[in-house]
Amino acid sequence: MAALDRSGSFTLGDLTVKRLGYGAMQLAGPGVFGPPKDHDSALAVLREAVASGVNHIDTSDFYGPHVTNRLIRQALHPYPTDLVIVTKVGARRSEDGAWLPAFSRQELTQAVDDNLCNLGLDVLDVVNLRAMFDAHGPAEGSIEAPLTVLADLQQQGLIRHIGLSNVTSAQIAEGRGLCEIVCVQNQYNLAHRADDAMVDDLTRDGIAYVPFFPLGGFTPVQSSTLSNVARSLGATPMQVALAWLLRRAPNILLIPGTSSVAHLRENLAAAELRLPDDAIAALNGIATSIEGDQR
Ligand SMILES: NC(=O)c1ccc[n+]([C@@H]2O[C@H](COP(=O)([O-])OP(=O)(O)OC[C@H]3O[C@@H](n4cnc5c(N)ncnc54)[C@H](OP(=O)(O)O)[C@@H]3O)[C@@H](O)[C@H]2O)c1
Repeated sequence: MAALDRSGSFTLGDLTVKRLGYGAMQLAGPGVFGPPKDHDSALAVLREAVASGVNHIDTSDFYGPHVTNRLIRQALHPYPTDLVIVTKVGARRSEDGAWLPAFSRQELTQAVDDNLCNLGLDVLDVVNLRAMFDAHGPAEGSIEAPLTVLADLQQQGLIRHIGLSNVTSAQIAEGRGLCEIVCVQNQYNLAHRADDAMVDDLTRDGIAYVPFFPLGGFTPVQSSTLSNVARSLGATPMQVALAWLLRRAPNILLIPGTSSVAHLRENLAAAELRLPDDAIAALNGIATSIEGDQR
């Protein structure tokens, strides 16, 4: 069995992906804006990911904008038949890089067209509607109008499957009443566990939960407990953070981001790391102690 296969697999609609994939956001320039600092290194990371067996890449045309999708196309097109590229729409970038909502029919249709064009595809495998009621975290508000637009584009054959991102449980319920939802992408990691109940609900319902910032995002998680567990297992803290997520629930799919081939290899090796129960217990205490500190 190849190393990455040890992470297991999960289905997004009719598409099967390995549970350990890759998130392309870090390939754009600083602040996810503009070109990468090293174009050839960015291509090398993408090629190494696929060569290592990754068949799930997360992206968006608003990374750059257009930058990560064009890198993916340049590095990997024509794509391996089993590669699933998941993108997201619902936001746009201002001239100075700010993240703004883009929920109108015209903006969503344009975003799907841009993703198709920049990725060089006729159909997008999975499109997440990225809610922007609050750009920094889930906030209530109806997603009926924008989701109806995506469902229409799905009917037209431009989108295979639909997911949601940065959403509340109420929005997931609303979305599931409108169309099939195959995945939810929210912020979650061993130090940020606001979605614990949502993860359990989605496990029960067989829907993928894809945590963004699985390593903590722009400032990776740091914790003495994490470092101690990693040391005791001969692993790195980032590998332990990923292995904890793989163990957390079978419907969790990982898309850790990196602009470095060395970090990519380190992260993918987490597929083979098994955490003993005492390590899990110690790691489960990290979020609790952080919440306690914030009180
Ligand atoms: N739906 C949404 O709203 C949303 C929001 C954010 C992200 N996302 C998606 O989620 C994916 C993952 O999020 P993310 O990339 O922002 O955060 P992440 O995976 O939690 O962490 C990425 C950060 O960790 C560093 N890193 C990665 N591997 C490392 C290692 N082995 N050792 C030390 N540092 C390491 C990276 O720096 P280096 O480049 O130096 O390795 C980068 O700074 C993104 O690529 C994107 O596709 C979605």
